[in-house]
Amino acid sequence: MNRRTFIKGAIALTATAYISPTIVFGAENFKWWQKKPVYQIYPKSFLDTMGKGTGDLRGITQKLDYIKSLGVSAIWLTPIYVSPMVDNGYDIADYTAIDPRFGNMEDFDNLIAEAKARDIKIVMDLVFNHTSDKHPWFLESKSSRDNPKADWYIWRDEKTNWRGIFGGSAWQWCEERQQYYLHTFATQQPDLNWENPDVRRALYDAANFWLDKGVGGFRIDAIVYIKKPKIFADGTPDAPDGSCAVHNMTANTDGILDFLHELKREVFDGHDIFTVGEANSVKPEDLPLWVGERGVFDMLFEFSHVNVMFNNGDEVWHRSHPIKLSEFKKALSDSQAATKNSWYPIYFENHDKPRSVNNFFPHGSDKILAAKALAIILFTLRGTPFIYQGEELGFTNTQFDSIDDYDDISSHGAYDLARADGLSDKEAMRFVQKFSRDNARTPMQWDSSKNAGFTTGKAWLPVHDDFKTCNVEVEEKNPNSVLNFYRKLSALRNSSDVLISGRYEELYPKNEELYIFTRSLGGKKFMTVVNFTTHKVNLPDKILNGAKKILGNYADAKNYLRATEAAIYEF
Ligand code: GLC
Repeated sequence: MNRRTFIKGAIALTATAYISPTIVFGAENFKWWQKKPVYQIYPKSFLDTMGKGTGDLRGITQKLDYIKSLGVSAIWLTPIYVSPMVDNGYDIADYTAIDPRFGNMEDFDNLIAEAKARDIKIVMDLVFNHTSDKHPWFLESKSSRDNPKADWYIWRDEKTNWRGIFGGSAWQWCEERQQYYLHTFATQQPDLNWENPDVRRALYDAANFWLDKGVGGFRIDAIVYIKKPKIFADGTPDAPDGSCAVHNMTANTDGILDFLHELKREVFDGHDIFTVGEANSVKPEDLPLWVGERGVFDMLFEFSHVNVMFNNGDEVWHRSHPIKLSEFKKALSDSQAATKNSWYPIYFENHDKPRSVNNFFPHGSDKILAAKALAIILFTLRGTPFIYQGEELGFTNTQFDSIDDYDDISSHGAYDLARADGLSDKEAMRFVQKFSRDNARTPMQWDSSKNAGFTTGKAWLPVHDDFKTCNVEVEEKNPNSVLNFYRKLSALRNSSDVLISGRYEELYPKNEELYIFTRSLGGKKFMTVVNFTTHKVNLPDKILNGAKKILGNYADAKNYLRATEAAIYEF
């Protein structure tokens, strides 16, 4: 199919296929994935049933009742495909087979069936910007300049000054071909050439394979990088001074939406699924082109609120600055405004980000109060809440002393870059400890036994040392635990038309201590108030007039907010 035909097709389809949620009164007309939260699992760290130190699919199946207790509609699994695991599965060597470390296809089919019996769908991660360098496609592509897959990847005779997202050059020399290949991420993750229709076809076939298995949708990885027009159109451009990141040169470039409309038409359309794209650097004002009536995905993980400590999409950890509350709130409010006619995935954590309690609350905040405060925001903004494993228990960052103790490939790149920029080991480690993705990847804590019940073997990453007090077993028994708070919030949100679909409005956006917003629908109104400081803060005059507190991280109600206090009021 030529390009013009698929664009025309896409326009025809998008005009009829999507009914804007905001024009529907009440939540009963919403889709299943809008009515309940989604739970994200990092399988390697969830539950090991075989004593090998890494989690597996059977472990997930075993814990489905636990997951169901959070009131979710779906589980998003980060990649479980065959992979050398250089980037823990985001380097795929076979798109349609399960990595033996996670189990086999029977385990997967069983997981889908058992989840379905509990009214939960399984959502897969599509990693379509790149493959592993061990993928047969790449092995063939690199073998010569004239094999059938010779242009399935991005090969050039010269390289640019682009720095890869995990550090080092974004180009790798290949002896066999006597050429460089582009890798946006690790050297072992060569970027696919989306300009080649055979590449696109092969990727769509892989996605359709999982749809045939009955999956409930897709999270689409690193999708903003698939179009690299500048390399082809302008020769070999170097990045401007001071910013030599591949991200700044290739993210979200013109023409990308043509590819994505084709993906939508060839894979997503006609299925009762949801899709959520990972899209660092799509600006809130551009969201309507990506989601909703004119868009291609149901939701988009844009990074504006989680990257508010970085100056642009190029996340250099040691160039981060302290978060200003008003900027964080603005990012959320802008995204809420930009998706008021479509839908938003609400998230504060995932497998790439530090734990939210450390990330968004000042040092010295009570961790349990902070976890509950963020949960209140997570469940009262408009959109689908995404809960990342452990977040519902109030997990916090881990801390290893030496860079050698970190598994996360991006931590090593970030450390090297910081050292190259003149930071001492100690200074560089401070940023690694703060931002490492391993913070989010320590094993799930099930009970107070050895390895927190995660494995009977040697855990691949050390269990957090708070596991005796912060684990599922202990929190189940405590009515005031973070876990039980999540359950209450989920039940409240899932049964409230106002919280599912009501209009969002932020109050006092310039206030640097409090986050206050309302949700309203048909004369009913909720208000969320959160104190982001470690001291008492007065609420604006009369704001609570006529309001009744329905849930908060302190039991009683005052007309001011105590340290890290958060509450939901109803009018
Ligand atoms: C996404 C994933 C991340 C991975 C990267 C490369 O950002 O979330 O974990 O390392 O893409 O695939």
